Amino acid sequence: MIRYSNAASGRHFLQIPGPTNVPDRILRAIDHPTIDHRGPEFGVLGRKVLAGIKPIFGTECDVVIYPASGTGAWEAALVNTLSSGDRVLMFETGHFATLWRELAERLGLKVDFVAGDWRRGVDAGLVEARLKEDRGHAIKAVMVVHNETSTAVTTRVDAVRRAIDAAGHPALLMVDTISSLASIEYRHDEWGVDVTVAGSQKGLMLPPGLSFNAISAKALAAHKQAGLPRSYWDWGPMLAANKNGYFPYTPATNLLYGLHEAIEMLMEEGLANVFARHDRHAEATRSAVRAWGLELLCVNPAEYSSALTAVLMPAGHDADAFRKQTLEAYDLSLGAGLSKVAGKVFRIGHLGSFNDLMLLGTLGGVEMGLSLAGVPHAKGGVQAAMEVLTGPKPGGAVKDAPARSVA
Ligand SMILES: Cc1ncc(COP(=O)(O)O)c(C=O)c1O
Repeated sequence: MIRYSNAASGRHFLQIPGPTNVPDRILRAIDHPTIDHRGPEFGVLGRKVLAGIKPIFGTECDVVIYPASGTGAWEAALVNTLSSGDRVLMFETGHFATLWRELAERLGLKVDFVAGDWRRGVDAGLVEARLKEDRGHAIKAVMVVHNETSTAVTTRVDAVRRAIDAAGHPALLMVDTISSLASIEYRHDEWGVDVTVAGSQKGLMLPPGLSFNAISAKALAAHKQAGLPRSYWDWGPMLAANKNGYFPYTPATNLLYGLHEAIEMLMEEGLANVFARHDRHAEATRSAVRAWGLELLCVNPAEYSSALTAVLMPAGHDADAFRKQTLEAYDLSLGAGLSKVAGKVFRIGHLGSFNDLMLLGTLGGVEMGLSLAGVPHAKGGVQAAMEVLTGPKPGGAVKDAPARSVA
């Protein structure tokens, strides 16, 4: 019997919410001989990427680049600014906020962790209330995840900034933009963020392996007083070497070639267009989910993520069994539900190097996969997405299903 397999031919659909598809231009840029990282040619590259990355963060401050995954940049933000026993305020928006909390606790910080239901972002009103209660200013930092990759829920960082200001509190503001940078609008300077943490493998369209800290003047002042042990992550030697385009240790030279190309691509498209593209693909995806009669994990439309969509499986159906079918039948990788929502949720990544037809292929794979896996749904999700992609959506406001408790 002849067996037809999608996995044997054509391109894999990597539609997890990062690492994302690496465009050919970036692959070609990385594919060059590695050069002397202390030679003059490297200095030119280093200066270009260190300057070129700033507008992507919306900053004129220094941005440091580590040869590390995002977790390294999380740790760097903390060890450079805080001391053992310092209190910090965090919110349980999902899996990644929880991991950052655990990392902070392992470093000896005391975390005030506000419980959440994994379906909404940080409540700015609560930030203000908690900080107002802290009259002695024991809380040294507020740490939030801009785009919770485990839930597809964003936090409005500008509102958190306003809340800190309204409380008249001096805490540092640290923001994880690992899955939002270069996908969802972000303004480090304008929103008064002190440390922005980012990674290479999502909106920046690079392979995993680089991560970033954008550093405000206030964070640099905190760095002088901070007592947590630091060595590899220390901003001091990094910033000193970066002045001439160099690094205090061996940089990820070939990924920096790729970063240079990624910055060129983002600037050619224009950041406003990049954000609008992500917004549009997200809206089309949500229309498909509604047409299927499935439920979004995010309950607040003002907090919908433009980088990915998290979909709740109908009760009695396993999201991982469904994802296994889409992989085997269509060579389509979708994101798994993580920790508290494992098996209950699947995630569709629509960030990075992505276009309308890639989205329709992805949604086609999801719709066919739902049939294969016997998940009850209505047809017409791809059609609904096409309607969004081909013009303004007819009809008025859309209504999501009532929310249930998941975490
Ligand atoms: C929001 C967020 N924060 C942190 C991380 C951890 O980054 P990494 O896995 O690159 O160490 C991720 C990874 O996906 C993430 O999505």
